[in-house]
Amino acid sequence: MIECHDLTHRYSPSETALDGLTLTVPKGECFGLIGANGAGKTTTLKILSTLLVPSSGTARIAGHDVVTDYLAVRKAIGYMPEAPPVFAEFKVGDFLAYAAAMYGLRGEERTRRVDSVIALTDLGGKRDAWCSALSQGMRQRLFLARALVHDPPVLLLDEPTSGLDPAARVEFRHIMRELIAAGKTILVSSHILPELSQFCTSVGIVERGKLVISGTVDEVLKSVRGPQEIEIEVSGDASMIAAVLRSFTGVGKVQVKGATAVVEFTGVRDRQAALLKALVDAGVPVVSFGERRATLEQIFMTVAAFETS
Ligand SMILES: Nc1ncnc2c1ncn2[C@@H]1O[C@H](COP(=O)(O)OP(=O)(O)OP(=O)(O)O)[C@@H](O)[C@H]1O
Ligand SMILES: [Mg+2]
Repeated sequence: MIECHDLTHRYSPSETALDGLTLTVPKGECFGLIGANGAGKTTTLKILSTLLVPSSGTARIAGHDVVTDYLAVRKAIGYMPEAPPVFAEFKVGDFLAYAAAMYGLRGEERTRRVDSVIALTDLGGKRDAWCSALSQGMRQRLFLARALVHDPPVLLLDEPTSGLDPAARVEFRHIMRELIAAGKTILVSSHILPELSQFCTSVGIVERGKLVISGTVDEVLKSVRGPQEIEIEVSGDASMIAAVLRSFTGVGKVQVKGATAVVEFTGVRDRQAALLKALVDAGVPVVSFGERRATLEQIFMTVAAFETS
C-alpha cells in the first residue's frame, strides 16, 4: 500500500537527507518509523505526502506514483505534519468543515464526517473555539481530525504524539488501535520509541537517511539483542546459585547482586524452562525468573551505536 524504493533526497549538494531508503507497508499494517533528530523521518513523510519531490528513487501509495500521480495520492492519504500551522481565522468546527469541503464533501455527509472526527479525537468541547486559542496538544488532535476527515485509506503521521500529555498519549493509542481495526494503512514517525511498540505491527529504524533495520517488533528485538538476559531472584543470597547456573549448557556470564542473578543465556524458550527446573530441582528457593526484554529505546541506542562506530 505504501512503497518507497531507493528513495534519495538532497536539500543541497552537501545535505543528503535520504540515502536510498526502501520500505513497504502492506495494506492494513501500521509501520513505526523510528529515528533520532535529523534522521530523515519528516523528509520521507513529506515525499510520501507529495509536498517534496525526491532527488531520485520512487514512492507509490495505493499504486499511485507520488510524483506523476500526485492528485490520486492526495485523495488516498491523510497527512499530519510535524508542526501543524495555526489557522487563526477559523473556529475548530468550521476549519474541519472547510477541510472536508476541500475533499469534495457536501451537505449531510460533510456534517456527519466532521461530527465523527470531532468525536473520535475528543474535540467536542472545542467545536466553537478559535483555532488560535487551542493548546499545542489540542492543535495536534485537530490536525489528526483533519487528516481523517475524508476517511482516507492511508495515514501519514509525523510525530503525532509530541506535545501530548500522558493521558492524551493513552487516548492516542486507543485512537490508533481503532484506526488499525478499521483497516487503515498507517506510517507513523516518532522518537518516543516504546510508544510505537504498543500499537505498530512493524517498526523500522532510520539512521542518516537509511533504513538500518525493520521488521515486526519481535524480529527487530531478536536481530539486535544478541544473547538473552535472564533475571533470577531468590530468597536469600543469589551467589549460592552461581555454581548450578554455570554447569548448565547455554549459560554465559553470570552477575550476582544481593538476591538477584542476571544470566546471559543462549537457547530456545524450552531451555529456559529447563534451566528453571534445574534450579528448583537443586533446591534453590526461586522467587522470580524472567527474560529481560530490551526496550525499543535500548535497541535504538544499540543500532545508533553500530552506525556511529
Ligand atoms: N528544508 C531543509 N533544507 C535543508 N536541509 C534540510 C531541510 N529539512 C531537513 N533538512 C536536513 O535533512 C536531514 C533530515 O531532516 P528531517 O527533517 O527529515 O529529519 P527528522 O528525522 O524528521 O528529524 P526530527 O526528529 O528532528 O524531526 C537533516 O540533516 C536536516 O538538517
Ligand atoms: Mg521530523
